[in-house]
Amino acid sequence: MGSAYLDKKSVRDIDVAHKKVFVRVDFNVPIADGQVKDASRIVAALPTIRYLLENQAAVILASHLGRPGGQANPEFSLRPVAETLSKILSMPVQFVGDCVGPEVKQAVSQLQDGQLLMLENVRFHAEEENNNPDFAWELAHLADIYVNDAFGTAHRAHASTAGIAEYVPAVSGFLMEKELQGLGVALAGAKHPFIAIIGGAKVSDKIKFIDNLLQKVDKLLLGGGMANTFLAAAGYDMQASKVEQDKLDWAAEYLQKDIAKEKMILPVDLLAASAFAADAETKVVALDGVPAGWQVLDIGPETRRLFDAEISAASTVLWNGPMGVFEMDPFAGGTMSVAASVANSPAFSIIGGGDSVAAVKKAGLEDKIDHLSTGGGASLKFLEGKKLPGVTALLDK
Ligand code: 3PG
Repeated sequence: MGSAYLDKKSVRDIDVAHKKVFVRVDFNVPIADGQVKDASRIVAALPTIRYLLENQAAVILASHLGRPGGQANPEFSLRPVAETLSKILSMPVQFVGDCVGPEVKQAVSQLQDGQLLMLENVRFHAEEENNNPDFAWELAHLADIYVNDAFGTAHRAHASTAGIAEYVPAVSGFLMEKELQGLGVALAGAKHPFIAIIGGAKVSDKIKFIDNLLQKVDKLLLGGGMANTFLAAAGYDMQASKVEQDKLDWAAEYLQKDIAKEKMILPVDLLAASAFAADAETKVVALDGVPAGWQVLDIGPETRRLFDAEISAASTVLWNGPMGVFEMDPFAGGTMSVAASVANSPAFSIIGGGDSVAAVKKAGLEDKIDHLSTGGGASLKFLEGKKLPGVTALLDK
C-alpha cells in the first residue's frame, strides 16, 4: 500500500535536537467571533508538534488562514488559533504579528528548545502565493530545518509550502505522512471490491478525479448536483434542477464509454422540491417524474438502499462530496445515509473533502472512519493522481 510519496524523508529521519524547526501547518480553520469553531486541523498536527517539542527542538509554526489577498487584515489573523493551540497543549504559544521582518527574527533568536512560536498569516504577504524566492529565503533563514505538515495546502506551490524547501533541509511531518498513506490506499493497494461514492454540486470540478478513480474502482456511485448533469445527459428532464449545460455533451459521451457502462451507478430515484428552500414542498420521484418547474435536491430512498448495499459489500470505500443540499435538513437525508453506510461498512473507509467530513462529524460517526482527510482541494488533486508541490519539494529518503 501507499505511494511513491512516502519515499520522502520525515521528521524521524533528521536530528531535530537543539535546532530551530520551521513547521508549515494548515491551520486554515473556521473562525467566528474570534473563536476557532472546528479545531480538527489543529488537533491533526499535534503529533508532529509534540514530537518536535519532546525532542528538544525550538518550534516555529506557520500557516495561512483564509484568502486575505496579500494584505494584512485582522479578520484573518492567526492569533485565535495560537490561543486555541495553547489551551489544547496546556503550554504557552508565543505569537508574533508577522511572519518575516525584524520582530520575527528577534522572537526566533530568543526561542528556546521545547518552546513554541507562532507566526502571523503568511498570506498577509502577496509574495507567499507568488512563491517569491526572496520571501521563501527569508522564511527559510528563520530555521535550521523545514517540516511540511500542511497536507491541506500541499497542492499549492507557495513560498511556505514549496519555495522554502530550496533553502533549508525539508522533510514531512506525521500528518502529511498519514494523509499520503491513508489516501494512497485509494490510488494503490486498495482491497476489492473497491467502491467510490462521489457527490458535490459540480461535475466540472471533478472530471479528472472521476476519470482517474474509474480506472481503480469496481463501482463508482454518483450523487449530488453532479448526478443531475449525468441524468440530463442520459435524456431525463431535470426541470429546474441545476445542470451544467456546458458539460452535457461531455457527460453524454462519457456515459457511452465501456468503463462507465460497467462501473458507474447513477441514482435510481430522486427527492425533488418545489423550490430551493428548506420549507419547499418535496416529493420522491422516478428519474422521469420530476414535476414541471421543480428541482432535484437529494437522492431518493431506493438509491440510498442501492448505495448502502454496494458500500456494505465493499472492502475499500472512498467517499467525496455530499449527495444533496445537505446544509438544509430536508435534503440532508441522502448524505447522512451515505455517512452511516460508510461508517458501518466493514470496508477500509476513506473520506476526503470538507462537506463529506462535516457530514460524518454531524452524524457523530467520525471514529468509525479509517481515514478522514484534512484536505479538500489537496485530497482531490492527490486522488486525481497529480503530484503535490508541497510534497515533491521535500527531500527524498
Ligand atoms: C483548504 O482549506 O482547502 C486549504 O487550506 C487551502 O486553502 P486555499 O484553497 O485557500 O489555498
